[in-house]
Amino acid sequence: MINPTLGVCYYPEHWPEDVWEQDAARMAEVGIAYVRIGEFAWSRFEPTAGDLQFDWIIRAMDVLGRHGLKVVFGTPTATPPRWIVDKHPDMLAVDAQGRQKGFGSRRHYDFSHLGYRDEAARITRLLADALGDHPALAAWQTDNEYGCHGTTYSYSPAARVGFQRWLAEKYGTIDALNTAWGNVFWSMEYNRFDQVELPNLLVCEATPPHDLDFRRYASDQVAAFNRVQYDILKARRPDLPVIHNFMSRYTEFDHYDLAETIDIASWDSYPLGHLAVSAEPEEVKRQYMRQGDPDNAAFHHDLYRTVGHGRWWIMEQQPGPVNWAQFNPDPLPGMARLWAWEAFAHGAEVVSYFRWRQAPFGQEQMHAGLLRPDSEPAPAYHEASQVAQELKSVGLSGTANKGRVAIVFDYQSEWAWEVQPQAKGFSHSAHVRALYAAFRRHGLDIDILSPDTKSFEGYAIVAIPALFAWNDALRTAIAEFEGHLLIGPRSGSKTQDFAIPAKLAPDLPSNQLDLKVIRIDSLDPSLEIEVRGSGAIHHWRERIETKANVVIEDVEGWPVLVNQGKLYYLGGSGSKALVHRVVDHLIAEAGIDTLSLPAGVRCRTRDGVRIYVNYNAGPAVLTLASDETGYVLGAAELPPAGVAIARLATAG
Ligand code: GAL
Repeated sequence: MINPTLGVCYYPEHWPEDVWEQDAARMAEVGIAYVRIGEFAWSRFEPTAGDLQFDWIIRAMDVLGRHGLKVVFGTPTATPPRWIVDKHPDMLAVDAQGRQKGFGSRRHYDFSHLGYRDEAARITRLLADALGDHPALAAWQTDNEYGCHGTTYSYSPAARVGFQRWLAEKYGTIDALNTAWGNVFWSMEYNRFDQVELPNLLVCEATPPHDLDFRRYASDQVAAFNRVQYDILKARRPDLPVIHNFMSRYTEFDHYDLAETIDIASWDSYPLGHLAVSAEPEEVKRQYMRQGDPDNAAFHHDLYRTVGHGRWWIMEQQPGPVNWAQFNPDPLPGMARLWAWEAFAHGAEVVSYFRWRQAPFGQEQMHAGLLRPDSEPAPAYHEASQVAQELKSVGLSGTANKGRVAIVFDYQSEWAWEVQPQAKGFSHSAHVRALYAAFRRHGLDIDILSPDTKSFEGYAIVAIPALFAWNDALRTAIAEFEGHLLIGPRSGSKTQDFAIPAKLAPDLPSNQLDLKVIRIDSLDPSLEIEVRGSGAIHHWRERIETKANVVIEDVEGWPVLVNQGKLYYLGGSGSKALVHRVVDHLIAEAGIDTLSLPAGVRCRTRDGVRIYVNYNAGPAVLTLASDETGYVLGAAELPPAGVAIARLATAG
């Protein structure tokens, strides 16, 4: 575990060598400790097959090292050079419409192509050998943003063969596959595995388990690709951590699986770009266009802390306007500082700004850096340096505190409802995020849990919304949990083979929850069915048969929230007001302390402090909480984009 510090992404190959020294000196002056390099430079490491040119990168590492900077070296496998594509023309991925992608940007490879996997292993091994003992080297990054630009799925001949092999291994016999997929339906039964096609370009939809298995297969290829590099890098330097930089709202492969072969998770946080490309309502986009969604970065911080087995970084932090949304506003002054502090509040070890200097050429010439293209400081340069100073004076150690509340987030459930939404747009992650925001407005610390979690011990409340199928771990965790549990809507409504369970959803033992979902009412999201008291159901409504106690019902008398002891079931997708009401009810029943936060202010606790951030474009005023002794940074009056850190009484 590293005490919180800053980093930056740097591309020495973009700048004349005589600039490196001054760049490194200025990075050190700002208070930067880590510099990520290398991840797109393959055409300079190996301009033609076998012509290895590593001297320049070693000189760049020497310069950085001389200024006390530590290097995170990124393997360059996201950008195979042109000659590799000429050598393996079929390594280019194929989209769902059957069109092959071209060379001329990045990520133009197919995870199923074993020839390219070997090339990636080869360059990784060569670089690990050449750079592995460099004194400035502190960590590796594998590839760059697996899956970015829609690259997890490929419908190529390589994917078809790989999928057939994967199915043969999973099912053993073709009869087992036919049964699991329900292939008697529409005479879809196969005689041999080599007859099974990919689930694209069919006349209409594939049977759901066919589509889901293809996503599981594709996810496994991403994990396998990473494993190859991990094994090489760990064999060379067992002591150095291997990191990957994940993304926001990206779910096409199972990050928990891939995380078996990383030591630290990281993610790339671009709050304004992420809000701009999200499906958030227009009024939220307008209100937070210069700050970002106040819950989106935090959700990913909590998610990637779990993915990283407790250790995580921000590998790329937005420093100013980005270039890739339709409109790319300038952040509110102070946000490059606030985003860093919020990440530290959630346990980040390093926040690394992307990038050092804005590039005057290439696809991202409109993307800000800490420096302008003329090398003068951009606003984030000063904000980063302020964070570095503040980190010194506050002196944080340890990590984020364990939450009181946990929410299960499951990649397969996201895929399942994409495969079979039943109500257009029904999504697992949307339900998770709605609950996350509802708990967080009370100042509660939240953990995100994987569906393989075997015990919920230590949590006061756990929520498992819209989970497609139970596994043994979750069944055990539920059976043994003594806190308050919220499940539904749609949780446990399928088996792992994507069939309706014999006892119907939510398929829990009746001594835990005596309830059956007997019918689904799928609604256009513009329709709302009022709930008695306050709030409404929209999009998804369940008709349930139950002996459990009805807590909330809708105006037509359908039960909405029921409980059997501490187990609650929510039988529909709630409006924001209803989700708040359900969460408030659970908090009251569980008897946990909450904070009263001004609108637009968020907080989290870590090692003896509570860190507050003000996402508003105007000021906000805090009240010192009963467990706080005073402020160690900032004060109760928070300016726009302000940060305040309160010391917790329990810290001594
Ligand atoms: C990330 C990517 C970087 C850069 C950045 C621009 O997705 O990892 O290489 O493209 O976006 O915001």
